[in-house]
Amino acid sequence: MEITNVMEYEEIAKKKLPKMVYDYYASGAEDQWTLKENRNAFSRILFRPRILVDVSHIDLTTTVLGLKISMPIMIAPTGMQKMAHPDGEYATTRAASAAGTIMTLSSWATSSVAEVASTGPGIRFFQLYVLKDRNVVAQLVRRAERAGFKAIVLTVDTPRLGRREADIKNRFALPPYLTLKNFEGLDLGKFDKTNDPGLTTYAAGQADQSLSWKDVKWLQTITTLPILVKGVLTAEDTRLAIQVGAAGIIVSNHGARQLDYVPATIMALEEVVKAAQGKVPVFLDGGVRRGTDVFKALALGASGVFIGRPVVFSLAAEGEAGVKKVLQMLRDEFELTMALSGCRSLKEITRNHIMTEWDRPWIAPRL
Ligand code: FNR
Repeated sequence: MEITNVMEYEEIAKKKLPKMVYDYYASGAEDQWTLKENRNAFSRILFRPRILVDVSHIDLTTTVLGLKISMPIMIAPTGMQKMAHPDGEYATTRAASAAGTIMTLSSWATSSVAEVASTGPGIRFFQLYVLKDRNVVAQLVRRAERAGFKAIVLTVDTPRLGRREADIKNRFALPPYLTLKNFEGLDLGKFDKTNDPGLTTYAAGQADQSLSWKDVKWLQTITTLPILVKGVLTAEDTRLAIQVGAAGIIVSNHGARQLDYVPATIMALEEVVKAAQGKVPVFLDGGVRRGTDVFKALALGASGVFIGRPVVFSLAAEGEAGVKKVLQMLRDEFELTMALSGCRSLKEITRNHIMTEWDRPWIAPRL
C-alpha cells in the first residue's frame, strides 16, 4: 500500500528492526511525557488562513547561515544510522542533497565526516558533543572543517544521558560490526574503544559534565565555523547563547530523550524567538511530522525545522528512497499548507496565520 504520510514509516520500521534498535530510535526519557507532548502540542495550534490570495506560484526556498536551501526542513543529527540500514548516513546524506537541504551528521555517527563528504556536493553541518578530552574535540572539529562542513551544531542538553528505560531493559549496545566512525584514527588518548559494547556507559563517560558557556567561547577559538547551540528552551539561555557568540539557536529537547517534563519545543519556541530579538536565527526540532507542523513553527518565528526520527524510520524501511520520500512528503504538505493559508513565500507566513491555545484557550481545548 502506498505510504501517504511520514508517520507510517514508524510502523514499518517497528516490524523490520530488531526490538533493541527500534526501541533506541523510538524511546523518550522516563515517563515519555515530553515525547507525547512534542506531538500533542502542535494540535493545540490552529490556522487563521487567508483566502483569495493568488497562490499559483509558491517559493519554499530560504537561507540558513547564508546558505541557500530548497525548503526550511533539514535533517537533525541522529546517531548510529547504520543500525537502521546498511547505507546509514550515506543514504541520508544523499537524500538530503537530492532534496537540496542540509544534513547534520551526529558525533556518534556510523559514517565519518569524510565518508559523508565523499557522497558528492551538498551542505552539511557537524553535530558536536564536547568530550572531556578537548584534544579529541579539536580533532573532530578539524576533520569536519576539512571535509567541507559548514557549521558546528553544539548539543548542550546532554551533560549526562537521559534515562531511556527501554534501552536499559534491552541493554542497548552498538552492534559489534559497527563503529563510531568519527573517532576512527583519532588520537583518543586513553579512550581507545570506539565500538565498546557498553556504548551507553561509554558515551556517558565521555560527556563533559563540566561543559559551560565559557566552552562555547573556547570552541570559537579553535574554529571559524558558525556555531548553532542545540538544546535551548528558555529566554535566559537564549540571551546567554547570543552573548557568547552563537550564530543561531536550535530549540530542542533532544527528541524528548533527555529531561522529561520539559515543554514541547513548539511551546517553548515563541519565548526563545522573542528573547533572540532577531539577532540570530532560531530553529526548532521535536515532533515535526507534518507540513502543517513546519508552517506552525515558522509562524511562531522559527527560521526552519529539523527532523530526527522520521529519518531513521524511513531509512530502516526503504533506505535512501525512504528518506527522500519523507523529505518530499513534508515538502509537499508544507507547500499545500502555504497555498491553503494564502502564503506564497516564507516571509509571508506570519503570527497572524495561526492562533494558539495560549492566545485563545477556548478555541483549542487541551488534549
Ligand atoms: C537523537 N538526537 C541526537 N541529537 C544530537 O545532538 N546528537 C545525536 O547523536 C542524537 N542522536 C539521536 C538519536 C536518535 C535515535 C534520536 C531519535 C534523536 C536528537 C535529534 O537531533 C533531535 O533533537 C530529535 O530527534 C528531534 O525530534 P524528533 O524529530 O525525533 O521528534
